[in-house]
Amino acid sequence: MKLTFLGTRGECEQTSKFHKNHSAIRLETHDKTILLDFGASWQDKLKFVNPDYIWISQSSPEHALGLKGEETNIPVFMSEETNDKLSESQFPLKNRQVIKGKFKFGSIVANQISTNGLIIETDEGRVGYFPDTLDVLDKPLLKKLSIYIGDGTSLTKDIVKNASELQGGKKVGHKSIITQLKQIPAKKIIFTHLGKEVIEMKHDKLIEKLSELGKKFCPDISIEIALDNSTFGIPSRKIINPTANREEVLSNYLGSKRQFVNAIFRYVPKDTKTLFDPTCGSSHLPIEAAKHGIQIIGNDLCPLAYYYSSGIFQGQQFSDDDIRTLLSSPPTSGWLSKSELKRPEQLESKRLIDGLMVGAYKRFSGGKQKTALAAMSLLLQHYFRGFAAFISEEEPYSRDQVFGDLSKAVKDVNQLIGEVGGKGRIFNKNILNEEIPQADVIYFDPPYFPGGSKAPINYFKHYVHANSVLMQKKFEQEDPTKDQIRGIIPKLASKANLLIVSTTSPSAINWAQELTRVKKHVKRLSISKSSTGSQPQGGRANPTTAQEVKENLWIASDSEVKTFERLENASFDVKNYDLSKISKVQLKKDLGIVAAKYAIILRGGTTEFENKEKCLDFAERIMMKVLERGNITFSPKYEIVNGKAEII
Ligand SMILES: C[S@@+](CC[C@H](N)C(=O)[O-])C[C@H]1O[C@@H](n2cnc3c(N)ncnc32)[C@H](O)[C@@H]1O
Repeated sequence: MKLTFLGTRGECEQTSKFHKNHSAIRLETHDKTILLDFGASWQDKLKFVNPDYIWISQSSPEHALGLKGEETNIPVFMSEETNDKLSESQFPLKNRQVIKGKFKFGSIVANQISTNGLIIETDEGRVGYFPDTLDVLDKPLLKKLSIYIGDGTSLTKDIVKNASELQGGKKVGHKSIITQLKQIPAKKIIFTHLGKEVIEMKHDKLIEKLSELGKKFCPDISIEIALDNSTFGIPSRKIINPTANREEVLSNYLGSKRQFVNAIFRYVPKDTKTLFDPTCGSSHLPIEAAKHGIQIIGNDLCPLAYYYSSGIFQGQQFSDDDIRTLLSSPPTSGWLSKSELKRPEQLESKRLIDGLMVGAYKRFSGGKQKTALAAMSLLLQHYFRGFAAFISEEEPYSRDQVFGDLSKAVKDVNQLIGEVGGKGRIFNKNILNEEIPQADVIYFDPPYFPGGSKAPINYFKHYVHANSVLMQKKFEQEDPTKDQIRGIIPKLASKANLLIVSTTSPSAINWAQELTRVKKHVKRLSISKSSTGSQPQGGRANPTTAQEVKENLWIASDSEVKTFERLENASFDVKNYDLSKISKVQLKKDLGIVAAKYAIILRGGTTEFENKEKCLDFAERIMMKVLERGNITFSPKYEIVNGKAEII
């Protein structure tokens, strides 16, 4: 189970860098996403969260106003009292579910406690969410909670308002953090819905105070303050372990096509020997192609992308000793420490990262240096995943955390070197000025120029700080213009029979026009209906500012365009396989592929699945989605009649 606190601000005007947005929690369990509350600052953003279910604790603005004007079909669960207060005219929600006591989000069991508390029960754990509650801290109900998410309006004083007639004379208000610590027997307590007192405290002081209170009132419980965008999981770990919040996948490269690799690779002909990717970024498609024995030439002008990709293809795997050598690089006063960047906040963290960067250059040479730089690139992509600076909530970037993240980055790079090392060469050139090499296939995933009046996505601007840290000097590079990118299309087309372009729409470049000018057969396919978290976005790389965009594929060829099933060879990215983003057509195909994989395992072959059971689990996930979507038909068509399948 994963909990992401999208926003943590309660009923107050004050904000801080950690608590900007109103209460909203995304809970993910068993392939479903439940959104708990959606306060005022989330208005018009529901499409970016896109949950399966919504639960609103109460009608006040910091809990519910984000749903204003939403004509969504998503089921919205709420108490009768909340339902009465959210008028149909302001909240035209199409699927209201009025609940009391036990109910279900699909198959997930939940219990509405009092008017505005909720307990969710799954085999992964019991989570209780109690914002704004005064009267429900009744121990038997809250027993054995894996996580209690509590009300952080006040640190020390209970706030009890003399309830108006509106609330039927009941007392309303907030139990303080101290009162909750004294009463809650959960394994872990996370406070959100924070008030003025907590938001205005310095973060370090607050943590110190909480540790002190925790020691006094509940020494065996781990206590956390949720920050905007922070993530927690079950099983959870104590606050003293700062690596607990780390994401599983480090790379968040802007525009990464990681999720679309299978869809794109189906158009790479089986007899392809060479593939050139002029703007390869983090090389997701070339990596897949190399796994199938295709020789790669890659290129990217962005140092972050170049160092990562060249480490994967030309690096030498790190041993444990190499990791120790890198981690023992002494902190130093490099570019980041001398810069005016506000994050990481602490000079010591900046010196630590500078030290590792210098260590990567100085302590290694040849292939090992490439590996060190690839791992550092991955770390910096992760930490600088916003336009201006660190936007990760994981301050203060302690030594343990940075070392943990870097070790994970080395592990990821090592694994990829194991799979495709030696199968390609990567360059760091400006493609606008270069001679284009000849290749069987050219795959082009250019910088994105959104259609309409939206500002272009600037890759070099986006990563200006990450590149400066990586290079240890100020990074200066102009992003290419739309016309410059248009200008190289004929050059690319002249060097390969097959040109595959992956683009996002709405695009300011008329790809149909450009490509039909240079190739006889041009086919357009929509590979995803909406943007993924790592797709180009106008503002910071987070879902709240994501634009509504679509991923397209253009296949331009001198000969007829074909798809290649590659059943035996197609490889699922099991960890990142996101069912909600797989199209109907692909889902049906994936079911066939996973069945083929199962057959391979039964014949004693190896696949990306560790064993038979893992393959079956994966197949079951796909099957469940197929059934859930309901409108997927197979040929011949079947119908279940009296418990038996009959051909229609
Ligand atoms: C959409 S991204 C590619 C993403 C990549 N396909 C992936 O899956 O990670 C576009 C890339 O074009 C690169 N780029 C922009 N201008 C360039 C230029 N003039 N020469 C080479 N690369 C350039 C950017 O650095 C960026 O990495």
